[in-house]
Amino acid sequence: MRNIVIFDTTLRDGEQSPGASMNLTEKLEVAQALVDLKVDVIEAGFPIASPGDFQAVQSIARNIQGSTICGLARCNDKDIDRAGEALKDAPDSRIHVFLATSAIHREFKLKMDKEEIIRRAIAGVKRAKGYCDNIEFSPEDAARTEIDFLCEVVEAAIGAGATTVNIPDTVGYATPEHMGTHIKQLVDRVPNIDKAIISVHCHNDLGLAVANSLVAVENGAGQIECTINGIGERAGNCSLEEIVMALRTRADHYKAGTGIETSRLVPTSRLVSSVTGIEVQRNKAIVGRNAFAHEAGIHQDGMLKNPTTYEIMRPEDVGFQKTNLVLGKHSGRAALADRAQALGYHLEGEKLQEVFEEFKKLADKKKEVYDSDIAAIIDQRVATGDDQWQLVRYELKLSGDGIPAATVTLKRGEEEATDTFFGGDGPLDALFRVIEKITDLKVVVRDYRVHSVSQGKDAQGESTVDLEYQGRLHRGRGVSTDTIEASTLAFLNAVNRAALSTAAPENSAVYTKL
Ligand code: KIV
Ligand code: ZN
Repeated sequence: MRNIVIFDTTLRDGEQSPGASMNLTEKLEVAQALVDLKVDVIEAGFPIASPGDFQAVQSIARNIQGSTICGLARCNDKDIDRAGEALKDAPDSRIHVFLATSAIHREFKLKMDKEEIIRRAIAGVKRAKGYCDNIEFSPEDAARTEIDFLCEVVEAAIGAGATTVNIPDTVGYATPEHMGTHIKQLVDRVPNIDKAIISVHCHNDLGLAVANSLVAVENGAGQIECTINGIGERAGNCSLEEIVMALRTRADHYKAGTGIETSRLVPTSRLVSSVTGIEVQRNKAIVGRNAFAHEAGIHQDGMLKNPTTYEIMRPEDVGFQKTNLVLGKHSGRAALADRAQALGYHLEGEKLQEVFEEFKKLADKKKEVYDSDIAAIIDQRVATGDDQWQLVRYELKLSGDGIPAATVTLKRGEEEATDTFFGGDGPLDALFRVIEKITDLKVVVRDYRVHSVSQGKDAQGESTVDLEYQGRLHRGRGVSTDTIEASTLAFLNAVNRAALSTAAPENSAVYTKL
């Protein structure tokens, strides 16, 4: 069995998904979850892109141990030095340098000829080598690069010291046959290929990212770049959970495996979905809510007789819990921490106490507290920092002719403010407008959703609000047994995020123009 290196780029390419920005606390949570999942390499960000990205990579490099921490850089001195600086405190680091090689990119984007590309690739890898031994080189848009030139660039990068050569299908153009041939040609024609690991980074524009990555493995790739839930630019990247379970389930064919702790797949998927606000579709392979649900009578009958009749993987192998009816109002702190751990969260000290208090309040209101309720409470805590506006109380009245009057009290640190708004397009609009008044932020709501996070008529509602502020989209979430309160919390959460992006533009996930 060959070991395939799993390179996770949820925090870099994944964060480039529109609306998927994460703040520093969330990035640290996700990075720790990736370590628990036992990914080999975490691409933590693109340090030159913004001060916020630099800080995130540096913080992950300093605080998260157990996986190699990687930072992305273009092939120029400034980018590479910035990545080297961000990573300098990591016990185990990698710099990932990239430079486009396809004819389209050479001519229209870079305006460089082939010689210049080779010269820069060599110089970039050599400079990165000054910071650490572990260097990955990516010829961007490799899948559309002429194979002869690709072989030349890859040979030059390895000659300069690259230890991994990554072959990106940047625009998701490759088919499995195309990808397989490309990798095979590199294996057969690059004389020093044995000095580096071949990696692939497949985008999913044609829905082929996982299939293309599998064919690459068949043809000699030893690393796969992927993201949790397959998030990433446009249609996203190869989904980590799908590629890992494909290799594991069909080890008979691929004769390759990974070190991934597969029982952490569902908790990690849930965490990433919750911090990015990108929902996992119900029928998504491996981690979707319906992935192991059998509806047809014939299937259910077969399952009762022998689960292998209709199941090629066991739900518990990917982290679905057998029962998710868990805690009640008599449950203690340790039980909560334990349950949270199973759901993919680390709770201790003050944070455990805060979540515990919220849990007790919920257990008083609700008869049964489900896993999803607990996850929702924790996510809500992660979403709101102490330096941001918090909801203290709200009051909503409707006059005889149906005109709403909303009064809201918010608190930020020691500061407390109350205001009222009369009118608006209904009660929610009135509540949102008071929040705009108090926080002094004018926003436009672009999307609004509410759904229940568990079962029963006392289920908590989770609301998601997408709002636009200064040309950027900010997503907020809120959870409560009262859907009006959930919506108010979601709006406030999005406003806090918007405010944070103006106070410190580095908090924005939008990359500077490259
Ligand atoms: O898609 C791509 O080409 C990339 C590179 C930076 C590897 O994300
Ligand atoms: Zn990419």
